[in-house]
Amino acid sequence: MALVITVAQQKGGTGKTTLAANLAAALAADRRVAILDIDPQRSLTRWHQLRADRDKPAAAITCSDVSGWRLATELERLKRDHDAILIDSPPRIDTDARLTIRAADLILVPVQPSLPDVWAAEGTLKLATDERRKVAIVLNRVPATSKLRDSIVADLTGRGLTLLHTGIGNRAGFAHAFAQGLGITEAAPRSTGARELRALLDEVMELTR
Ligand SMILES: Nc1ncnc2c1ncn2[C@@H]1O[C@H](COP(=O)(O)OP(=O)(O)O)[C@@H](O)[C@H]1O
Ligand SMILES: [Mg+2]
Repeated sequence: MALVITVAQQKGGTGKTTLAANLAAALAADRRVAILDIDPQRSLTRWHQLRADRDKPAAAITCSDVSGWRLATELERLKRDHDAILIDSPPRIDTDARLTIRAADLILVPVQPSLPDVWAAEGTLKLATDERRKVAIVLNRVPATSKLRDSIVADLTGRGLTLLHTGIGNRAGFAHAFAQGLGITEAAPRSTGARELRALLDEVMELTR
């Protein structure tokens, strides 16, 4: 049965699409991976188009952007012949987003170390908890040292929330890789960003085992 990971957070620009694309690309090295893009902006779908158009082909990923009433059956269909499904969602909780949270083995909530990001995440965190889903916060674009980061980590863990140990730094490599239809582990496998992404993936696999 496929592992379903939904990336959700009600604020735009926190790194949902980046995280979904990079986890999908890293997993695609040795697994059958599908991405499901339910954000009407379709950034993940466009990333996949760049990937499909590459002169030098990258590992295959199935891409679907089905939404609305066909979403549930599409998800079941994808689960049948893939090992992992990464779902990218819009910056709001609508019917589709609820469905993909309910269907997830793990919900990842990217949060930049700033209070508005933390506040914006609260709705998604509550919904995931109400649905009894496993949910983990991923700190994204984290400065190397930051007092604010430390106080945000203390606040989140103090509320009993799961925070992944691995934070992702603010790294131009993510945008560079994205522009080529790749993940950072493919475009710059020896970079710090790629190391962070692999460590994050290890934690995700550990959490969902
Ligand atoms: N760790 C990171 N380091 C540098 N830039 C990042 C990082 N994560 C995301 N970005 C950039 O931030 C912007 C928003 O990211 P995106 O994944 O599109 O967010 P969302 O899907 O939540 O709206 C993009 O330009 C992306 O390249
Ligand atoms: Mg997005």
